[in-house]
Amino acid sequence: MKKKVIVITYGTFDLFHYGHLKILENAKKYGNFLIVAVSTDEFNLIKGKKCTYPYEHRSKIVSAIKYVDKVIPENNWEQKISDIKNNKVDIFLMGDDWNSKFDFLKKYCKVKYLPRTPNISTTQIKTILKK
Ligand code: CTP
Repeated sequence: MKKKVIVITYGTFDLFHYGHLKILENAKKYGNFLIVAVSTDEFNLIKGKKCTYPYEHRSKIVSAIKYVDKVIPENNWEQKISDIKNNKVDIFLMGDDWNSKFDFLKKYCKVKYLPRTPNISTTQIKTILKK
């Protein structure tokens, strides 16, 4: 039987766009079970982010993506170690806007940073729509 290789990634995923889809597609290539932690509205407020779509919608959209096997809420900065332990995660993966920021997790699993898709972000979409 093929070994289960569990990958986890984190994000807000507001106004779901092509860059979001690509990181989830690429993340899944590193394993065969992908967990996505979607930040809650309360956590986004702490981070100074105001989402257009509420958590309920963002998490439902992410869980409908074919590469995604499980969605969990991201409630705070501190939960990553317990998420990795509780879910037996093999690889922690983020976009390279977070380069080296999570290297402290290398004690618990592999840590990888993937290149962002150029020229697209939620912030950019919001700016374009405001014009
Ligand atoms: N991401 C990516 N390529 C992009 C945009 C996002 O690979 N062009 C990745 C991020 O690196 C992150 C995940 O998608 O790992 C979720 O990112 P998120 O912050 O929700 O999306 P952004 O579009 O970057 O949102 P914002 O503009 O609000 O920062």
